[in-house]
Amino acid sequence: MKINVLLIVAFSFVVSVRSLPMKPTLNYESIFNFGDSLSDTGNFLISGDVASPTIGRLPYGETFFNRSTGRCSDGRLIIDFIAEASGLPYIQPYLRSVRTNFSVDFTKGANFAVAGATANDFNFFKERGLSVTLLTNKSLDIQFEWFKKLKPSLCKTKPECELYFKKSLFFVGEIGGNDYNYPLLAFRSFKRAMDLVPFVINKIMNVTSALIEEGAVTLVVPGNLPIGCSAVLLERFSDDKGWLYDSRNQCYTPLNSLAKLHNDKLKKGLEALRQKYPQAKIMYADYYSSAMQFFNSPSKYGFTGSVLKACCGGINGRYNAKPNVICGGKGSTTCKDPSTYANWDGIHLTEAAYRHIATGLISGRFISPSYN
Ligand SMILES: *[C@@H]1O[C@H](CO)[C@@H](O)[C@H](O)[C@H]1NC(C)=O
Ligand SMILES: *[C@@H]1O[C@H](CO)[C@@H](O)[C@H](O)[C@H]1NC(C)=O
Ligand SMILES: *[C@@H]1O[C@H](CO)[C@@H](O)[C@H](O)[C@H]1NC(C)=O
Ligand SMILES: *[C@@H]1O[C@H](CO)[C@@H](O)[C@H](O)[C@H]1NC(C)=O
Repeated sequence: MKINVLLIVAFSFVVSVRSLPMKPTLNYESIFNFGDSLSDTGNFLISGDVASPTIGRLPYGETFFNRSTGRCSDGRLIIDFIAEASGLPYIQPYLRSVRTNFSVDFTKGANFAVAGATANDFNFFKERGLSVTLLTNKSLDIQFEWFKKLKPSLCKTKPECELYFKKSLFFVGEIGGNDYNYPLLAFRSFKRAMDLVPFVINKIMNVTSALIEEGAVTLVVPGNLPIGCSAVLLERFSDDKGWLYDSRNQCYTPLNSLAKLHNDKLKKGLEALRQKYPQAKIMYADYYSSAMQFFNSPSKYGFTGSVLKACCGGINGRYNAKPNVICGGKGSTTCKDPSTYANWDGIHLTEAAYRHIATGLISGRFISPSYN
């Protein structure tokens, strides 16, 4: 008798301890995500647009998944931490169902983000004579079309859809960063990248509006990261004009000004959408300020490796980001402890950096207006 009671007590203790971390902090029953490599959980890899890309093998994924999943990081991305905080499984890449006949259940959400994706499509860049080579043509419009295709499998009637989407979270971005990255990395002038800002914002506004008209009620639209602190872009713009670097963090000021311009215009655009669609809750996620915390005070946040150097790639140049050695490619090395680095492979961040940004979102600190 006594033993039984002890067993029951012990058992219930185990249950309560195990269920504690499962209590969700965010109350959403499904998540739909649009974007680029910052949030792609496998679409680019599945798409086959590039045959056996380096993101399809270790060390990608080494920190958390122990294998490559198509995520452009050593582990989880911001969207994975958002899914965890909502008590939901990691969001399935949409192309998993299209490219294989494996039937995927998307009732808890779908991820349409594709690494390398731009907000604008190929013709937009072509018309402007930018002649850039895109890694993928799965732009924001295509991702939106995928959503419309999937929608009838999620809900049928209008009232049914209203009920379903009332409990859904839509993440629109980060997207648009690549619209600047492609021309900048192809050595087009800085001004030409700057001139794209209004067109990038228009496209994001257009698709965000279209999603609301399709039934989205709660939306998070993230801005761009401080790209002036990105290892590949620092390497590309590497120059000896000391005054162009921020003395506080050694990031490249003109590029950060570009990100800030994009973010300011995005915030203004979202304000207009709030007027137009008062029934929708449209939140801005401030990735820029959240990431700036660790670029300004790296050791305070555990980034005791060099915060501007890539963890994975070649040990070369000021940023470990010279284009002759790429992470996962020939001659590449990986730092011992990625959790002490913010930059993973030159262009993408580490799980530790993404965790920092996600925590800032989940706490409500870098999201406005707040969730409730
Ligand atoms: C990865 O491997 C570690 C160590 O073996 C293990 O603790 C962890 O659960 C694994 N992660 C996954 C997602 O399988
Ligand atoms: C998927 O199913 C279709 C029709 O049933 C078939 O033609 C196709 O070969 C299958 N594809 C794969 C990847 O199994
Ligand atoms: C994207 O579309 C353009 C124009 O149709 C084409 O030339 C290019 O090869 C495509 N790129 C990819 C990665 O599919
Ligand atoms: C988005 O842009 C397309 C093409 O210009 C247009 O047809 C559509 O009406 C726009 N959608 C919204 C919701 O503004």
